[in-house]
Amino acid sequence: MSSPSVVLVYHPAEADVYARLIRLPAGHDVTLRVCATEDEAAAVIGDADVVYAWQFPPALYGKAARLRWLQAMGAGVDWVLVRELPARVTVTRAPGIFGPWMSEYVLGWCSWVTQRMEEYRAAQREHRWIGDVLPGRLRGKTLTLVGVGDIGREIARVARAVGMHVIGVSRSGERVPAVERVYRPGHLPRALAAADFVVVVLPLTKKTRGLIDETAFNAMRPGAWLLNIGRGAVVDEAALLGALQSRRIAGAILDVFPTEPLPADHPLWKLENVVITPHVAGPSTADEIAPIFNDNLARYVRGRPLQHIVDRTRGY
Ligand code: OXD
Repeated sequence: MSSPSVVLVYHPAEADVYARLIRLPAGHDVTLRVCATEDEAAAVIGDADVVYAWQFPPALYGKAARLRWLQAMGAGVDWVLVRELPARVTVTRAPGIFGPWMSEYVLGWCSWVTQRMEEYRAAQREHRWIGDVLPGRLRGKTLTLVGVGDIGREIARVARAVGMHVIGVSRSGERVPAVERVYRPGHLPRALAAADFVVVVLPLTKKTRGLIDETAFNAMRPGAWLLNIGRGAVVDEAALLGALQSRRIAGAILDVFPTEPLPADHPLWKLENVVITPHVAGPSTADEIAPIFNDNLARYVRGRPLQHIVDRTRGY
């Protein structure tokens, strides 16, 4: 019999839902502690070997004397990789489940642009028949993916299926299935200049913060749209506002922001060429993450290597 393990499940809204889907490995002594608030988690973190969490409060890591492994419930892990997280803690992510959601989001909003949905709906409200306004097509348009991890690759696959050209930008510049050409970050302006749609799907790290800056916007075509579904702070907000207000680019579909929720008085709310969605492009769902966690939990209690380990120096 292995030594007992305590798993702390932390989620401000759905901790019970996540906990219910945990499969306790047979023959091992595993206890669950289910917490929805920082106070509840503070009371048990000292006993926890494992944390399974969404946005775990960093202030608690100082009390996490036994913690060995943290499984993130979301796509990004920037909230995990904070200074306070002890070096001994292994962090794992949940690849494979966000790409299908986010590729539908991207294709949906690209179609919203090409199908001119806003114009037809506006005309309908006024009972106007606008037969001279024709939709465009996604086929033949170019989508540049800034970030070609597992989410980017799924977006590429779906975009190719509707006949789009797909270009990528990645740290390594290595070939990726469904992506016609992958550029290294030094060639970002060239990759942006080719795009009708630029999709930012990067994690937030020291290297990516503010990467999409004024130079990047200046490289984009005036008719191009920016979709940010990665992290708000990867895009320089002042440069974004400038590019949108001056119509340097056609518009932006934004799901993520440096400050969330987006403050009610933020100038982005008022721009006609902006669509704002409230960080919903790739929702975390307990039933999709559970198999990943359960597989790793079974490995953990048996002393086997965990899957999907985050490289803490790279930040993803
Ligand atoms: C994220 C998520 O990490 O929504 O942003 O999962």
